[in-house]
Amino acid sequence: MADFSRGFRACFLLGLALLSIGAEFALPAAAGGLVRETIFDVTKYGARPNTRKESSMAFVRAWNAACKSNGPARLLVPRGDFVTAEVILQGPCKAKPLTLEIQGNILASTDLSLFTSGAWITIDDIDGLEVLGGGTINGRGEAVWKFSGKHNSGPLLPASLLYSKVKNVVMHHINFVNSKGIHSKVTDSSNVAFSFIKITAPGKSPNTDGCHISNSTNVKFTDSTIGTGDDCISIGHGTSKILVARINCGPGHGISVGSLGKRMNEEDVKGVTVINCTLTRTTNGARIKTYHASPQIQASSIYFQDLVLNDVKNPVVIDQHYNSKKGEPSKVKISDVHFRNIRGTTISQVPILLNCSRTFPCEGIELANINLAASGPIGPLTSACSNAKFILRGHLNPPGPTGCV
Ligand SMILES: *[C@@H]1O[C@H](CO)[C@@H](O)[C@H](O)[C@H]1NC(C)=O
Ligand SMILES: *[C@@H]1O[C@H](CO)[C@@H](O)[C@H](O)[C@H]1NC(C)=O
Ligand SMILES: *[C@@H]1O[C@H](CO)[C@@H](O)[C@H](O)[C@H]1NC(C)=O
Repeated sequence: MADFSRGFRACFLLGLALLSIGAEFALPAAAGGLVRETIFDVTKYGARPNTRKESSMAFVRAWNAACKSNGPARLLVPRGDFVTAEVILQGPCKAKPLTLEIQGNILASTDLSLFTSGAWITIDDIDGLEVLGGGTINGRGEAVWKFSGKHNSGPLLPASLLYSKVKNVVMHHINFVNSKGIHSKVTDSSNVAFSFIKITAPGKSPNTDGCHISNSTNVKFTDSTIGTGDDCISIGHGTSKILVARINCGPGHGISVGSLGKRMNEEDVKGVTVINCTLTRTTNGARIKTYHASPQIQASSIYFQDLVLNDVKNPVVIDQHYNSKKGEPSKVKISDVHFRNIRGTTISQVPILLNCSRTFPCEGIELANINLAASGPIGPLTSACSNAKFILRGHLNPPGPTGCV
C-alpha cells in the first residue's frame, strides 16, 4: 500500500497536466436538458494497447482526471489489450454520475512482485459508480497458481478486483477470467449490485472464488455465470441483506455462507438469500461453514431456495468443523436457516448433512421439499446430523435426518 501511494501521488501530478484532454459529449439529461459527459479515454493518458508496456499509471491518471471533474464523467478503456500491475482507483470523487466503461481486455502483469496490497484493481471510497462495457478483466493466474503451494502455503495471490468502502455501485456486463486469487471482493461497503457477469477459471485453480463479500450490507449478485476453482460466491462475516439470484455455478465449490469464525474481530451474518440458482458438478450446493475455536458470532435468517443441482457432491451442508483441529467446537451460532425447494442429482450418499457445533447447536433449521436422486449406482441416499434442531416440511428425498441430538 505504502509503495503504491507514492506512485499514486506522482501519477496525480502528471494527471493534472493532462486534465484538458478529456473529450466532451452532450448527453440528453433525464430532466430534458443537456448535460455534458466528459470521456476520459485511457489511451489519451498514455495507455498503450496491444503492447507489453504497462498502462497502470495511465489508468490512474485518467481515473484521477475523471474523478475530479465536475458533472458526468466516463473513464473509458477502449477495445484492445492493456497490461497493468496494481491500480488503485481512489475516491472520493466529485464527478456525478461516474462511469467506468471497459470495452477492451485488461490483463494483469504476471510479475507477482508488483502486487503488494492483496488486490490488482482496487476501487476505494467511492459513492456512486457504474461499471459496464462488455470487456474482460483477465488476471492471468495460470502463470502463478503454482506458487499457491500445498494447502495454500504460498504467497497470498491478489484478487482481481476489490471494492472497498464503496456505496451505490453497479457493475454489469463484465467478464472475469483466470484471476490470480479471488475474482472479485466486496468489503466495508453498501448497496453494490453485480449482474450479467461472467467468471471463468479452471475447476482446479486454487482459491479463485468468483465473489467474496464481507462486512457489507445490501449486496446483490444476479443473472450471472460463474465457474471457478473455489466458491462461485462466498458470503463472509459482517454481512446483511445479501441476495444471490439466477446464477449458473460450476465448476467450483458452490455457493457458501462462510467461512465464518476464522478471525477474532468478526461480526454477525444476518439476512442472506440464495434463490433460483443452478449448480452443476460443484463440490457443494448450499453450504454454511464455520471454523472451530471461533469468536462468538451469529449467522441467521439464511434462505437457500429454488435451487437445481446437477451431480453435486454435497447438496445441503452445514459444517461447523471446517478445518477442524481436535476438541475446540465452533462458537458461531447458526439459526433460522431455510433449505427449500432443492432438487436434482448428487454423487454423495449423504446429500443432507447438518453437522453443527456441540456448544452452540443449530436452531430453527428448515428442510422443505428437497428431492435428490443419485447420479450413479451409489446405493441408497441418507441424511445425517449432529447438534441441530430442525423442522421437516413437504416431500423429502432422502428423508430428513432422525435421532439428532
Ligand atoms: C466494516 O465496515 C465499516 C463501514 O465501512 C467500517 O467502519 C468498519 O470498521 C468495518 N468493520 C470491520 C470489522 O472491518
Ligand atoms: C425465482 O423464480 C420464480 C419462478 O420463476 C419467480 O417467480 C421469482 O420471482 C424468482 N425470484 C428471484 C429473486 O429471482
Ligand atoms: C461432524 O464432523 C466431525 C468432525 O469432522 C466428524 O467427526 C463427525 O462424524 C461429523 N458428524 C456427522 C453427523 O457427520
